[in-house]
Amino acid sequence: MASDSKTTARYGILSDDMKEDREQLLELLTRAYWMEIETVMSYIANSINPDGVRAQEIIESLEEDITEELGHARQFGARIKELYGVVPGSLDFSAEQSYLQPPEEQTDIVHVIKGVIQAESGAIEHYNRIIEFTEGKDPVTQDMVIGILRDEEGHRRLFEGFLREYKVEGLA
Ligand SMILES: [Fe+2]
Ligand SMILES: [Fe+2]
Repeated sequence: MASDSKTTARYGILSDDMKEDREQLLELLTRAYWMEIETVMSYIANSINPDGVRAQEIIESLEEDITEELGHARQFGARIKELYGVVPGSLDFSAEQSYLQPPEEQTDIVHVIKGVIQAESGAIEHYNRIIEFTEGKDPVTQDMVIGILRDEEGHRRLFEGFLREYKVEGLA
């Protein structure tokens, strides 16, 4: 933002003349909120369904992630409110994670691992978009999303490691 623009630097993203940016950002944050909520649903199911000795590590990881993803949803919700938005009700929800539906066989751990990697990749992509959008506009949202992005990068890396093990053994 150049200093000769109409922006009231004093109030940043909360300025009246940043209303349009704020509304675009609210859309991005609402999408992020729903992504986190759907991930919570998918990770709950996938932390309960899997069978077999090898499923235990995945189950425990997902159980930890559920808490983190729920925390992310709450952070996105709180930021929506701070930006004068309203956290949507459940009727606005529409599911997208076709790749994280229960597999045919509950011993199909590779399906779960790949689904998690896809979900985390989607989050990483969307959060990078928010970080780019907020550059020079809203350092508070940007800072929050950078922290969340790091969590998602960690989640993806962990599951990439799980997948590697299956690949080495010729199972994926
Ligand atoms: Fe998350
Ligand atoms: Fe995650």
